[in-house]
Amino acid sequence: MIELNDVKKQFGDRQILAGISLSVPRGMNYVLMGPSGSGKSVTLRNIIGIVRPDSGSVRVGGMEVPTMDRDQLMALRRRMGYLFQNGALINWLSVAQNVALPLQEHSKLSSSEVDDRVQDVLRMVGMQNSAEQSPTDISGGMKLRVGLARALVTQPEYVLYDEPNAGLDPIISHQIHELIAEVRDRLGVTGLIVTHSRACAVHCGDRIGILENGRIGLEGSVAELTSSGHPLAKAFLGSGAD
Ligand SMILES: Nc1ncnc2c1ncn2[C@@H]1O[C@H](COP(=O)(O)OP(=O)(O)O)[C@@H](O)[C@H]1O
Ligand SMILES: [Mg+2]
Repeated sequence: MIELNDVKKQFGDRQILAGISLSVPRGMNYVLMGPSGSGKSVTLRNIIGIVRPDSGSVRVGGMEVPTMDRDQLMALRRRMGYLFQNGALINWLSVAQNVALPLQEHSKLSSSEVDDRVQDVLRMVGMQNSAEQSPTDISGGMKLRVGLARALVTQPEYVLYDEPNAGLDPIISHQIHELIAEVRDRLGVTGLIVTHSRACAVHCGDRIGILENGRIGLEGSVAELTSSGHPLAKAFLGSGAD
């Protein structure tokens, strides 16, 4: 379970988070939507402990993140995968080396155990035949799959997805949405997904929250939100939204 309660965060004189509260039950996907610059990535960074809130509570698995020391934060990050926009791969490493990175940082597995884990997650995302390729030689959708494999290689309980479909065409996006749903259904991962995509919310979201003025302005299932007639729901989930 991921829980934020009345979290506030200011940069300079700009109040970015103004009392955001949300909770992601175990094994569910929560989709966080909201305008660009509204604080969605800042919210994710609070959860991995890169940003500390000015006030409020951020809890993962019942543990308060802002008061964790360095070792506790490292332990938390072993249990949490993070999928960056565009996959954020390192171009001078092969696909397989990129995926292996979190294991080298975090675990004491032997090199053959690392290889097995890397093969397993590459197979799950359909990239087993590209292990030796360079990230510069694969498409945007493939990069994202590899980024997802890297997020999953430590077998995390939680995965945070920051705009997993930005810049992808609808067909590739759909494949990514199917993978995100599969990660929940097959691996039981608790997910928090930041996206602008209505298709992503519909396909992957058990619960949708829309950020407005630093708080969740509207929350519910896709069906609840679309039938609410609320302007925020129309803007993000209405027929004009993509
Ligand atoms: N470390 C930081 N220092 C100052 N301003 C920041 C910092 N991180 C984010 N911001 C500002 O906070 C706002 C929200 O950022 P962000 O969470 O990245 O938005 P988005 O909802 O598009 O993901 C932006 O205006 C951004 O410039
Ligand atoms: Mg962002």
